[in-house]
Amino acid sequence: MILVTGGAGFIGANFVLDWLQGSDEAVLNVDKLTYAGNLGTLKSLRGDARHVFARADICDRAAMDTLLAEHKPRAILHFAAESHVDRSIHGPADFVQTNVVGTFTLLEAGRAYWSALSPSEKSAFRFLAVSTDEVFGSLGATDPQFSESTPYAPNSPYSASKAASDHLVRAYHHTYGLPTLTTNCSNNYGPYHFPEKLIPLVITRALAGEPLPVYGDGKNIRDWLYVGDHCSAIRRVLEKGVSGETYNIGGWNEKTNIDVVNTLCDLLDELEPKSSGSYRDQIEFVKDRPGHDQRYAIDARKLERELGWKPAETFETGLRKTVQWYLTHRSWWQDVASGAYRRLESLNNE
Ligand code: NAD
Ligand code: DAU
Repeated sequence: MILVTGGAGFIGANFVLDWLQGSDEAVLNVDKLTYAGNLGTLKSLRGDARHVFARADICDRAAMDTLLAEHKPRAILHFAAESHVDRSIHGPADFVQTNVVGTFTLLEAGRAYWSALSPSEKSAFRFLAVSTDEVFGSLGATDPQFSESTPYAPNSPYSASKAASDHLVRAYHHTYGLPTLTTNCSNNYGPYHFPEKLIPLVITRALAGEPLPVYGDGKNIRDWLYVGDHCSAIRRVLEKGVSGETYNIGGWNEKTNIDVVNTLCDLLDELEPKSSGSYRDQIEFVKDRPGHDQRYAIDARKLERELGWKPAETFETGLRKTVQWYLTHRSWWQDVASGAYRRLESLNNE
């Protein structure tokens, strides 16, 4: 089996659902269920013996040791994190705790477990850390995209904590020989995305008739990747990636925020027209995020060249799918908005 941390969050849950659609290899899903964890996302796995859910904190060394000893995974895929930049500005402590201390604790537990494996199990084992392009800092308009050799220059408490996490992973490979893989991905979007992030926030607020807040002048650029493509890239890196290497993951979709918000409004105008006017009428420019990075862009050529991975979705196909998903899964995000999702504390097979 594989161990996934953070598998009740946006990307982790998409990964678990995709994995079990294509494989019978079981998943041990370890998640603390913070505000970002939602077992409702995994309800199709209720009663599925291939999915074992364990509510636990990655900072809890004893819990990590017990889970590893009991389930003997062949790989750890580490998604769990505090992930929202705005929250890291208002309250950085949780970010240091989970993203730095949590990764350290998991590495220590993983190292102890890995050290006791047989030689063949040891060489097959992988610790895959899911990271972000934000560790590379901010690009100017004409700078080349981030490559795997771009120096780290994190600017927010979130990206600094993820950079620290990546450095620890690197050190555990270099010092102890732990077979690690690190992926640095650009902005994801798609189903089950928590509506504090730009794309789901705009869709759900637009449908509720609320203002659509665009920070600053709306000209900041993000490089968007459909979450299913991120999941397929991680599977490819797990299968074929070279121990100790890092891989950038991206979809070559650089867009300004205002372009993204306008496109979402246009899709909603087409798929769920208002009785009068356009969703664009709800856009409001608001005070900028402090330290707001100007531009992220990923050069994903190494992953294509060395492991043969390419995204399947364009921004246009992925965004249309995403808007359609939010229109047809209203109860998922309405339960998030009402807080009802936080009452889900277990799946039947826990
Ligand atoms: P998310 O915030 O949606 O989910 C995080 C999950 O981790 C939640 O289920 C939460 O309950 C769990 N968690 C948090 N603290 C924990 C702890 N101490 N112990 C156990 N579980 C804990 O995040 P996401 O957007 O799915 O991101 C997943 C990973 O991908 C993160 O490492 C993030 O840095 C990285 N990433 C995200 C994006 C993106 O655009 N969302 C892009 C690149 C990389
Ligand atoms: O680049 C990868 C990163 O992408 C991940 O590592 C993070 O976990 C993930 O949250 C995301 O970070 P961003 O800060 O880029 O995502 P967010 O959705 O918060 O914001 C996207 C852009 O939209 C950013 O430039 C800020 C802007 N924004 C955001 C919100 C929430 C707005 O203009 N208005 C908003 O209300």
